[in-house]
Amino acid sequence: MAVIIDGKKISQQIKDELKEKVQKLRAEGKHGALAVIQVGTDPASGVYVRNKKNACAYIGIDSLAYELPEETGEEELLGLIEELNQKEEVKGILVQLPLPEHICEDRVIQAISPEKDVDGFHPWNTGKLTIGEPGFVSCTPAGIIQLLKRSGVETEGKNCVVIGRSNIVGKPMALLMLRENATVTIAHSRTRNLPEICRQADILIVAVGKPQLIGAEYVKKGAVVIDVGIHRDENNRLCGDVKFDEVEPLASAITPVPGGVGPMTIAMLMNNCVQSIETGQEG
Ligand code: GUN
Repeated sequence: MAVIIDGKKISQQIKDELKEKVQKLRAEGKHGALAVIQVGTDPASGVYVRNKKNACAYIGIDSLAYELPEETGEEELLGLIEELNQKEEVKGILVQLPLPEHICEDRVIQAISPEKDVDGFHPWNTGKLTIGEPGFVSCTPAGIIQLLKRSGVETEGKNCVVIGRSNIVGKPMALLMLRENATVTIAHSRTRNLPEICRQADILIVAVGKPQLIGAEYVKKGAVVIDVGIHRDENNRLCGDVKFDEVEPLASAITPVPGGVGPMTIAMLMNNCVQSIETGQEG
């Protein structure tokens, strides 16, 4: 029987710690706002944006919402970002992705001041992570590190396989596990003998984006399994990239979906915002 890593509980602990920190910072005259920009009306993005605003309210930081129509031009969006870059009270700027097709995501990400890039997507911050310097770290992988640490999972010298190589999850995840002294393999859709490689993992982090791809044949007995995926199955129930019922009996610890990695992303976004308020820049 695996330990079920409770992301809901751990994210709540982090938000409570941050709430206390925000009160102390306010007493020192340090405060600031997170600006959240949404372009268009994608329903999933709408839910994420609402959750982010609610988390800000919970920990006690201001949020400014910019809901722009789908047909907003790239120049207009870049103009708003520049305005927010200049505003001193704005300590974090987040542009909800995906953006409509006529807007170039890379240009938008690179327009955000690296000191306010609380998503950790700007090349300045990804570069800092690469060379091991402090900076804003992408929230989902940072949240997974917290899940491991707060669940007492040892990382030093362990074999970690990350499946997925996105800029937002897979690549920063691999770099963070390297920082934690794990021996890291990045696997992806073109990897040969994927089950065999995954069975080498003491810690298996799955961010493939395919519902229930990972079954028992990918998992070594006693491995820690982290599932980043979130999908709806044929019965409209939430599920991850991992076949939970099949893998759980093999694993020593596993994250559920929902209630595993998901809630950590927002907690770490709040952590980045507080860091920005505290230091006036990336921490
Ligand atoms: N869309 C899905 N996840 C994210 C995220 O972490 N940040 C932003 N900005 N957009 C997203």
